[in-house]
Amino acid sequence: MTTKKPQIDKQKIVNIRALAAKCCYSVIDQGRSLSDELPKQQDKADIKDKGLLQEICYGVLRYLPELEHDVRALMQKPLTGKQRVFHFLLLVGVYQIKYMRIPDHAAVSETVAATGALRNRQMKALVNGVLRNFVRATENNTLHKQDTLPVSIEYNHPSWFIRKVQQGYPIKWQQILAANQIKPPMWLRVNQQHHTSTEYQSLLATAEIDINTVEPLSHAIELTRPTDVTKLPGFEQGWISVQDGAAQQAARLLDCQPDDVVLDCCAAPGGKTCHILEQSPDIASMTAIDVEASRLVRVEENLARLGLQAKVIAADAADSKTWWDGQQFDRILLDAPCSGTGVIRRHPDIKWLRKASDIDALVVLQQQILKETWSLLKPGGTLLYATCSILPQENSEQIKHFLKNNTDANLLSIDNNNNSESDIVGWQLLPGEENMDGFYYAKLLKTAL
Ligand SMILES: C[S@@+](CC[C@H](N)C(=O)[O-])C[C@H]1O[C@@H](n2cnc3c(N)ncnc32)[C@H](O)[C@@H]1O
Repeated sequence: MTTKKPQIDKQKIVNIRALAAKCCYSVIDQGRSLSDELPKQQDKADIKDKGLLQEICYGVLRYLPELEHDVRALMQKPLTGKQRVFHFLLLVGVYQIKYMRIPDHAAVSETVAATGALRNRQMKALVNGVLRNFVRATENNTLHKQDTLPVSIEYNHPSWFIRKVQQGYPIKWQQILAANQIKPPMWLRVNQQHHTSTEYQSLLATAEIDINTVEPLSHAIELTRPTDVTKLPGFEQGWISVQDGAAQQAARLLDCQPDDVVLDCCAAPGGKTCHILEQSPDIASMTAIDVEASRLVRVEENLARLGLQAKVIAADAADSKTWWDGQQFDRILLDAPCSGTGVIRRHPDIKWLRKASDIDALVVLQQQILKETWSLLKPGGTLLYATCSILPQENSEQIKHFLKNNTDANLLSIDNNNNSESDIVGWQLLPGEENMDGFYYAKLLKTAL
């Protein structure tokens, strides 16, 4: 009789540090987004290691300048060309030693083992040497003798961005940069079609899932710990969605009324479209458009999970003649394409993928979409302009410019607007305030000319 050897899933025998190095290499050297790359690497990992892989990748991207500074101090010359992935492996090693509760010896040996997984045994000695030297230099306090660090290293952000934040927020700039480095909480949006927030809190309590806060002005619940959605009561049945508390302000501020004809003109992946429909089931219609057809798949999925309906159209909001049927809208949500600088804590790759030159181009695009969609709004209707940016150029300055050039536009006040930086119009939420993302809202009423 032959005994069968236990089957081992070879696909899943992988080194997590090697996957992390590859992921960071794809983001930084190849300009790919973390939200595209991380799932690809996570697919290769065992389910129990997916969280560790995520933690390392996010950490390396959060602390990139500082980690590179550490590694530079310990190397004769930088790794280039095909060896770049090992540059990121070194950052992975240093990040674990500095910021994770992994014993130094385990962080070093696991990271050194990754050289095998990356099929370059020649790098083994170098990775081993640099990481051991790093541990020793940290213990003896001999790393970095110089007194002052460049701001980009001190604050772990690109210098062009630090300058913009300093200009926009002369008092709060350090607070903003610090908030971007903190892991964000997980927020839920309770679908009021199924449960009130209070009822859903009881369901969470029964499932022993702790909550931190409930946002009084919306349907938002902040969890104490990020939790797999499959463990949340009724996720598949559409009882809740994952959405930051700041993004949940949009539906409330848009304040749709029965029989309103509503447009969400930059809709994908559909978070706000769905919230509006949950909150205002008696509107006449919802048209959800987005220029990226591939992203509209997510809108359709979200609508289906939540049992909601909208006219979903792939179209350019800046060119209405290609899609508009001639019926004016009572309410328009313009959640504009933006720098994403309010959500860096959730997407640390934004710091490195976004370039200073992108901002001017985004401002022009926002201006074009705003101008075009304003022409689709009924007199007496309101348009809510939103971004997940903190840069005044895309927000307050954009709206000031619009108000100056459109005499039929009136800025409506927003109740909980507590902008502390003086000349901001609209409502600028800064990252970390009330534990929410950085967001901007301006509510515009169209008057008859
Ligand atoms: C901030 S995201 C929208 C997020 C969405 N409102 C939500 O809550 O899930 C901006 C969206 O604008 C879309 N976009 C960019 N340029 C556009 C244009 N010219 N017309 C329509 N959509 C555009 C992008 O594809 C992106 O999906």
